[in-house]
Amino acid sequence: MSEALKPVVLDHPLVRHKLTRLRDRDTSTAGFRRLTRELSLLLAYEATRNLTTCPKTVHVQSGLMEGEELDGKKLCFVSILRAGNGLLDGMLDLVPSARVGHIGLRRDHETLEVSEYYFNMPGDVPGRTCIVLDPMLATGHSAAAAITRVKAAGAQNPVFACLLAAPEGIRYMAELHPDVQVVTCAVDDRLDENGYIVPGLGDAGDRLFGTR
Ligand code: URA
Repeated sequence: MSEALKPVVLDHPLVRHKLTRLRDRDTSTAGFRRLTRELSLLLAYEATRNLTTCPKTVHVQSGLMEGEELDGKKLCFVSILRAGNGLLDGMLDLVPSARVGHIGLRRDHETLEVSEYYFNMPGDVPGRTCIVLDPMLATGHSAAAAITRVKAAGAQNPVFACLLAAPEGIRYMAELHPDVQVVTCAVDDRLDENGYIVPGLGDAGDRLFGTR
């Protein structure tokens, strides 16, 4: 089996600054949402790094110039409900023409099995680059299940983008999907006994939607 791709960790002072604010438990719901949007735009920049381009000639002040444009392969952002929705706005700010798919997954607390309750994707997934979104890569079970599902729908070389990852989640993803590039703002220390990332930022869905 081929070696797993190493996660890409955004190494930038702006990212570290915004992430620290995001982790702060005193950050308001509105602030949390705004920071998530800003960070997801930066994540989108890195998650789209391997898009291919073709030559494009344009008229500039001094004559003609050969520039580049995206070669037409379209993007699809896939949100893992519900917290993945928090990453969509920033992603769509950067790539407004992208399509959006949604996957709803639930986890049986006893068997730890992941099952799907919702799946809605654009019809032309095989022609699109899919970027699967969830703010937290914790155990990796939901992320890996979502990737399995988008691959089954025909997605090639999907990417997984998150705000924070735990080493456990990275290892699980590498085991199941060594071909998937994980892009994250930081890799934290570990998971606690409830599956929360430490130090983490709490429950991303609750903080985004103000539900606790
Ligand atoms: N999901 C969250 O929202 N937070 C965690 O720390 C882990 C999973």
